Amino acid sequence: MKLSVIGCGYLGAVHAASMAKLGHQVVGVDVDAQRVALLSAGQAPFFEPELPEILAEAGQTGRLRFTTDMSKVAEATVHFIAVGTPQRHDGNAADLTYVEAAVDGLLPYLNADHLVVGKSTVPVGTATRLAAHVAETGATLVWNPEFLREGFAVKDTITPDRLVYGVPAGDAGARATQILDEVYAAAIGAGIPRIVTDLATAELVKVAANAFLATKISFINAMAEIAEVTGADVTQLADAIGYDERIGRRFLGAGIGFGGGCLPKDIRAFTARAEELGRGSSVAFLKEVDAINLRRREHAVTLVVDGLGGSVVAKRIAVLGASFKPHSDDIRDSPALDVAVRLHGLGANVVVTDPQAIENARRVHPHLHYELDRDTALAGADAVIVVTEWDEYRRELSPEHAASLATGRLIVDGRNCLDPAAWRAAGWEYRGMGRQ
Ligand code: UGA
Repeated sequence: MKLSVIGCGYLGAVHAASMAKLGHQVVGVDVDAQRVALLSAGQAPFFEPELPEILAEAGQTGRLRFTTDMSKVAEATVHFIAVGTPQRHDGNAADLTYVEAAVDGLLPYLNADHLVVGKSTVPVGTATRLAAHVAETGATLVWNPEFLREGFAVKDTITPDRLVYGVPAGDAGARATQILDEVYAAAIGAGIPRIVTDLATAELVKVAANAFLATKISFINAMAEIAEVTGADVTQLADAIGYDERIGRRFLGAGIGFGGGCLPKDIRAFTARAEELGRGSSVAFLKEVDAINLRRREHAVTLVVDGLGGSVVAKRIAVLGASFKPHSDDIRDSPALDVAVRLHGLGANVVVTDPQAIENARRVHPHLHYELDRDTALAGADAVIVVTEWDEYRRELSPEHAASLATGRLIVDGRNCLDPAAWRAAGWEYRGMGRQ
């Protein structure tokens, strides 16, 4: 099939390359000429496992092209909208500027044979509004939310947990479903579940899924707060409740909480949209989810300050991690960097290390000191804090080796990813998040 993908960020670049891998003819369009140049040269503009391989593979087949020229979408009949919907600068709502610009840009090239497929995360009601504009060209607009995780984006795109199609009622919806089934023939053939629904439900499924995940993380972090005043251990608590299949252990990792380009802004945009709809009270708990999440960053800072006797002024602190989670170089709303910035603000001499995210971090926080080499960051440190659970810190750093480099013996485990007994046995004062 001939597809276009408008927006070549995390979502769009991965979608375009994955669709080409599946055998479709794909043109990716982005306004950022530098990004287009990199992608055209077969290079990923961000760190995402498997993406360089499928870009190279698709490039060789000639099935994948990238351009800044919107008119090239005329070659395709199915158009995916994959642009960002960041948080607005003047509040919590989603900024729809890019989605609207993408649809406006597509309009001149559409006719009754075309299908426009929204993938971006949008406030419920957006698709119905945009569908009216698209309908003027004779084309149909549907919403097909994406659930990919950074770090596993290619796998999640090619073999998703489920497919959700939000389509209009009647013949137009039936035809759109048939077209999407062709696009996703491989996944459907593999038995991946697909839910065909209306536009509003499809939009809501996406924000509800992210709201649930955020709530699950803040729930366990709230338990960590209770564990801290009772002497209980939140990791064992999570293991124990996680064995109940109705609860499940995944996303019960207590620590400095969630960040990234999705969960934080999505729960805020959902709250703002619910308030607009007069149902703010239905999701008022998401404000608490947000508040718990932000408190945990502050708590990690407090553990360092207290562990160093009440002040971090002029203390060298090795901050292990900058990305919002491992397997990613994304630093958007990164809890790790937030902790680093707060410690720096308190007068600490912070040294940040990360295997992938240093260049991105330096661009946004040039005042922090960075070391690509983990051991150089650890050398002479008065305290060490793990804020992103990369294998380099979680599995590959032995407490004995860390002790041979650092001057102090305080280790704060902001992701509860270390073995407290092993670190204590090597002479460290171990402090975790809601664990003893
Ligand atoms: C999230 C969702 O998981 C995807 O399903 C969704 O498609 C995506 O947002 C999106 O809307 O595009 P992602 O932002 O890549 O994916 O990251 P997650 O793996 O969800 O992690 C989010 C944050 O939660 C990270 O900072 C991570 O460290 C934190 N986290 C995760 C915890 O603090 N504890 C956990 O147990 C799990």
